[in-house]
Amino acid sequence: MQKVKKAIIPAAGLGTRFLPATKAMPKEMLPIVDKPTIQYIVEEAIESGIEDIIIVTGKGKRAIEDHFDNNFELEDNLMKKGKFELLEKTKHPAKVDIHYIRQKEPLGLGHAVWCARKFIGNDPFAVLLGDDIVQADTPCLKQLIDQFDQTDKSVIGVQQVGEDETDRYGIVAPQERFDRLYSIDHLVEKPKKGTAPSNLAIMGRYVLSAEIFEYLEKHDVGSGGEIQLTDAIQRLNESSKVYAYDFQGNRFDVGETLGFVKTTIEFALQNEEIGHDVREIIEDLLEKYNQQ
Ligand code: G1P
Repeated sequence: MQKVKKAIIPAAGLGTRFLPATKAMPKEMLPIVDKPTIQYIVEEAIESGIEDIIIVTGKGKRAIEDHFDNNFELEDNLMKKGKFELLEKTKHPAKVDIHYIRQKEPLGLGHAVWCARKFIGNDPFAVLLGDDIVQADTPCLKQLIDQFDQTDKSVIGVQQVGEDETDRYGIVAPQERFDRLYSIDHLVEKPKKGTAPSNLAIMGRYVLSAEIFEYLEKHDVGSGGEIQLTDAIQRLNESSKVYAYDFQGNRFDVGETLGFVKTTIEFALQNEEIGHDVREIIEDLLEKYNQQ
């Protein structure tokens, strides 16, 4: 069986939810404490055994390429000042090669994935979306790859969400359940409120067989007038079975403002260097605002 060694990270979205911050800066570069969100995603891929990543970018995304490149001036400066810890933090991740391709028109997630088809060829591959950061003992993507290795079928990561949230996600209608793994009856992208077939939501982690490109190739337009990855997975499930895996771990939604702020606070509290002080600051602030 082929091993999953390649991953696609779509990063071509406009990031309108974070305007004006994202007017001249990619949303993927917004930091959670001291690291851009996309770096958390790249690190998860590396920890899951991925060796080649292709980032699908668009206009105004050059900062992502610069971020994952070496910066000789900065490194030289840090070296001369003996700031080795910082030097280590700024270096390009050694265990992975990062490639780039541009999505020339914003036609949707399915189209962004399709743009990377020549890079993927016939190999099974992973897709990681940047709107969710997952903290888990076994990296989220690794959990899916383990399931792929056992079933030899495409696997998508899901978690349960509240009924009031199902219209924000791709939703899986399960068929049979095997512990945390589900066979799928069908999938719906962002069902209207009150019509979702379950509360199992797709969480931006996928392991897919290259057969998916046959369905993405058709460029069918779905929810929101976009070419949807979920619709192509629906077709793939009809022809060769796809599984949904309810992965273990804490998911942080960094794709919208409130989730982003919550994640920042929680990651700051967890931080070894500043966590203790952040806690005191929050306690002081709560006292101040509770008095008002
Ligand atoms: C995308 C997918 C959706 C998935 C979601 C997870 O939607 O189309 O199926 O549930 O990511 O974050 P988006 O949020 O990009 O509109």
